[in-house]
Amino acid sequence: MRNGASVPNGPVAWVTGGGSGIGRASAMAAAEAGWSVAVSGRRPEAVTAAAEAVRSAGGVALAVPLDVRDEHALRAAHERIEGELGSVTAFVSAAGLNAPRRMWDDQSMAEFEAIVDTNLVSVARAIDLVLPGMRAAGGGTIVVVSSRSAWRFSPGAGVAYMSSKSALEPLVASLNDQEGERGIRACHLCPGDVDTEFLALRPERPPAEARASMLTPEDVARAVRFVLESPAHVRIDELVITPLGQR
Ligand SMILES: NC(=O)c1ccc[n+]([C@@H]2O[C@H](COP(=O)([O-])OP(=O)(O)OC[C@H]3O[C@@H](n4cnc5c(N)ncnc54)[C@H](OP(=O)(O)O)[C@@H]3O)[C@@H](O)[C@H]2O)c1
Repeated sequence: MRNGASVPNGPVAWVTGGGSGIGRASAMAAAEAGWSVAVSGRRPEAVTAAAEAVRSAGGVALAVPLDVRDEHALRAAHERIEGELGSVTAFVSAAGLNAPRRMWDDQSMAEFEAIVDTNLVSVARAIDLVLPGMRAAGGGTIVVVSSRSAWRFSPGAGVAYMSSKSALEPLVASLNDQEGERGIRACHLCPGDVDTEFLALRPERPPAEARASMLTPEDVARAVRFVLESPAHVRIDELVITPLGQR
């Protein structure tokens, strides 16, 4: 037993935003598929609970609380994961941010910057950290949880959110273009409406009836697992996952 992780044995997956919603479900799914998972997010209690849930289900997990916007914390977390679990060969970026005031006539530039920093710049920061280990390992898989609003103009999603998520498509494409020959593949994963805590960031939280027809975090985690488990020569460039009734 090393610092909360039980006997590390599988390949290592790092999940940001792993304390709740899609990230937490993805950590569970990756662990079920045999990955040792490092779970990161700002709330220590949430990432600890997620790691405990993975362990209760028989998996290997390490809770690594951090703010993805903090470059030094991100670097320290990556070093800790490498030291305690091993080199990261799968990275699932699920940390994300939006704000209720999201239109040109009510958004604040401070919130705009925080959203872009979280949804775009921090994703690049983390990928920059894991790439050398993936290159050394001869391969790796990166799943960037983006949004359906990156795929189809979705005015309600907000200016900063839609702009930051839309930039993830070329980010992923550039990884596939430049790192593919080193065995590294990336997926731009675009979920539609998912019933998670994220809905609390909308101007108005959808009622229970509307939430009941949305995707669940587990629906999206199945797709993450599919990407992670695909044979090494298979690249899933982009996935769009939408609840049946979403327009
Ligand atoms: N729900 C939807 O309808 C929907 C649709 C399309 C795409 N998405 C995307 O799916 C991803 C996951 O969201 P979700 O729906 O699962 O909602 P969620 O449960 O609220 O997950 C977002 C996660 O990001 C973490 N996070 C936010 N800022 C962070 C930071 N600075 N550093 C580290 N972690 C941070 C949060 O944890 P802490 O607060 O503890 O840091 C939280 O665990 C997001 O990228 C979101 O944009 C969601």
